[in-house]
Amino acid sequence: MRHLMSPLDFSTGELDRLFSLAEDIEQHPEKYAHACEGKKLATCFYEPSTRTRLSFEAAMLNLGGKVLGFSDANSSSAAKGESVSDTIRVISCFADICAMRHPKEGAPMVAASLSSIPVINAGDGGHQHPTQTLTDLLTIRAIKGRLDNFTIGLCGDLKFGRTVHSLINALVRYENINFVFISPDELTIPEYIIETLRERNIPFREIRKLEEVMPELDILYMTRVQKERFFNEEDYVRLKDYYILNKEKMQLAKDDMIVLHPLPRVNEISVEVDDDPRAVYFRQVQYGVYVRMALLLTLLEIEVA
Ligand code: CP
Repeated sequence: MRHLMSPLDFSTGELDRLFSLAEDIEQHPEKYAHACEGKKLATCFYEPSTRTRLSFEAAMLNLGGKVLGFSDANSSSAAKGESVSDTIRVISCFADICAMRHPKEGAPMVAASLSSIPVINAGDGGHQHPTQTLTDLLTIRAIKGRLDNFTIGLCGDLKFGRTVHSLINALVRYENINFVFISPDELTIPEYIIETLRERNIPFREIRKLEEVMPELDILYMTRVQKERFFNEEDYVRLKDYYILNKEKMQLAKDDMIVLHPLPRVNEISVEVDDDPRAVYFRQVQYGVYVRMALLLTLLEIEVA
C-alpha cells in the first residue's frame, strides 16, 4: 500500500507515467467513467479548501466512485478532542482511500503510519502540498511540452507557501532549472530549501523587484500572502499587496511565458491579466482534476485497459 506525502514519493519515471495517464484521461474520459465503481474516497479537511477538496471529489465521481468526508474540523469529532491517529483508524473502516488536509505539519504522515488505506497529503501547514505540485507539473508539461530547461520565477509568500516548497522540491530533479525567488525580506524562501539548492549546485537568485526579472522568465508562479500563517494582522496588512501582477508588468514578459497560481488569488494578480493567453491558472485547475484521477487510480492499483 502506498501513500502520497511528498512529490518525492514518486520517482521521475513514475511521475511521467502518472502524467501520461492524466493526459489519456483528458483525451478519453469515457474509458475511465466506471474505473472506481464500488470505491469510496474520504476527504478529511481540517482547514478550508475549494479546489483541492472539490477536485478530489470531482475526480472520484468522474471515475464512478463515491465520496464522503468533512470540510471543517469543527464539524468532526476533532472538535471533541479526537486525535488524527484515532480518526484515520475510523475512516479506514468507511473508505478505500483518504485525502487529508491539516494545519499541523506532518499530521497526514502520522495518519498514514496508522492507516490501513492509502492516505494523500492534501496540504499540511506551511510544509508540503504534493497534489498541487502534481497539478503544477502536469500544467507545465502540457503547455510547455517539457519539465526541464527553463527559468522559473516564484513570487510572493515564499516563507509560508507550501505549494512553493513542494514545487521546488519536485523541480530540483529535472535538468537545467534556473530558480528566481521574488519576495519581500520578511517572506523569503526557508533556509533548508536554499541549502538543498546549494548542495546540488542548482542556480538560484533572490530578488525583491518583479519587474527586474520579468523578461527572463519562462514561467512565473505567483502566490498569495498566507494570512492564516501570520502571527499578527499588522504584518499581514503591510505585506499583502507587495506584488500585484498587472498588464503593464505582463508587457515586459516573453510572448510564451506562462503565469501559474495555485489559487485562491487575493490581489496579487489583477483581474485584467485573466484574458492574457499567457495566464493559465484556470486551466491549471482543470489539470488538477485529471492528475487527481490518475493519482486515485494509481494508489488504488486500478488499471484500465
Ligand atoms: N490550491 C489550493 O490548495 O486551493 P484550495 O486551498 O482552495 O484547496
